Amino acid sequence: MNRKAFSNQVVYGISSHLAQELEMIPGKHFWYHQARNYGMQWSYKLLILRLVVNAAYLKKIRGMAEELSLAAFLPKGDSIRIEPGGRGIVELQVPWPKLLRTSPKVSQLPTLPGCQASVGLTTENRPAMVDFNNPLTAHALISGLTGSGKSNLARVLVFKLARQNKSSDLRFLLFDVADSGLAWQGFGDLPHLYHGIIDTMTVAREGMAWLNGELDRRAQERTREPKLIVGVDECQVFAKESDISETLKMLSQRGRKWGISLVLMTQRPVSDSLDTTTKANCGIKIVGKVSSPQESAWASGLPDIGAECLGGLGDLLLCQHAGGVQRIASPLFTDADLENLPTNGRDWVDFPKPETKEPANGSDPDFTPTEYMLSLIAAKHGKGRPWLKDVLESESGHKPGSSRARRLLQWGQEAHELLAKYRYSLSVTD
Ligand SMILES: Nc1ncnc2c1ncn2[C@@H]1O[C@H](COP(=O)(O)OP(=O)(O)OP(=O)(O)O)[C@@H](O)[C@H]1O
Ligand SMILES: [Mg+2]
Repeated sequence: MNRKAFSNQVVYGISSHLAQELEMIPGKHFWYHQARNYGMQWSYKLLILRLVVNAAYLKKIRGMAEELSLAAFLPKGDSIRIEPGGRGIVELQVPWPKLLRTSPKVSQLPTLPGCQASVGLTTENRPAMVDFNNPLTAHALISGLTGSGKSNLARVLVFKLARQNKSSDLRFLLFDVADSGLAWQGFGDLPHLYHGIIDTMTVAREGMAWLNGELDRRAQERTREPKLIVGVDECQVFAKESDISETLKMLSQRGRKWGISLVLMTQRPVSDSLDTTTKANCGIKIVGKVSSPQESAWASGLPDIGAECLGGLGDLLLCQHAGGVQRIASPLFTDADLENLPTNGRDWVDFPKPETKEPANGSDPDFTPTEYMLSLIAAKHGKGRPWLKDVLESESGHKPGSSRARRLLQWGQEAHELLAKYRYSLSVTD
């Protein structure tokens, strides 16, 4: 079936159902909107029908999405979404059969200034945009079932922002711990990164510690530049890590003032996967296919927006503070698009390494072979704590805390005396 045959089938089905059930006569009680493409429009994933309806019938039609889907002979699983709002006009969004759905190209999205970015095309094929510099929409939450197109959308977003801004004006920190960095595959050489793609819990913890410090530094120096966007895919993995979710919450509360924006992604933004304050502070909510009207309300914070009727694969609702709800088709980000990503040099920061944990009861921890060896060398050559801490850091990457270094030196001293007592000598050169 082609699009024309499908459109005819839908118009016939819907008109006859309205005539039968509500005794609505086309041309008398409703008619297809003349000014707007004669009531019918083809967009990437949808056939749009705009009916001008006699006010008495408006409310009734809005509650008939399910019946109309049946009347239009839609396949099982597909359903018509009726756009709420719109005075006197009912917009029926009918999904094309799967094989007839397409996506726009990334190159079709316009280039915008600064931190505004286009994320897809609306049902009228106009670009829909988000603006991270608007105080009401400083943070974004992207949610929806698996395969709804969250990670793809985030890639489009980061791509557009990176292409529009110099790395001196805009930086990113990109996390994907759940899928070992897969969501940001190909973005590792972006010059805008503050650090490589963060794909393990250990580095994520260091990164969050750095973000804490960065926020304080910006607040002290009264600076909000460069703009920093923190992209976190599958952010529910941090729900049980109280230190990390606290940092995310704090960034959602204070980040805006100091030029730090969050872009969070999760399948179900319920309270056990995302802190409620963090969620509420996300003024941009982009919702993909969800499983029920209740999930739709959880994800968007708005009742009755019908995210359960979406088709998945980049069919999304963009809900913004004061901007209403727009249904958008996001482009599919391809390997060819990756080629257009800037890759001119990197300038990474060092994350602070956490102090090695000391055992609470003061008993000796297990030392590593490197620590044993270097403690012996320190004892033989009469070196102190600063020397030991420095060489351990350069050898193993971890600087021991002061009390661990003291215990190491003590062990080294005792071992050295024992060796000397039994006339073993170490032949160690500096
Ligand atoms: N805009 C789009 N147009 C066409 N296909 C898309 C689009 N967005 C995503 N897809 C397809 O859907 C698949 C899943 O997309 P994506 O990985 O973004 O989903 P997700 O919501 O992040 O899922 P998960 O929660 O499992 O990570 C992609 O591999 C891609 O093939
Ligand atoms: Mg994903």
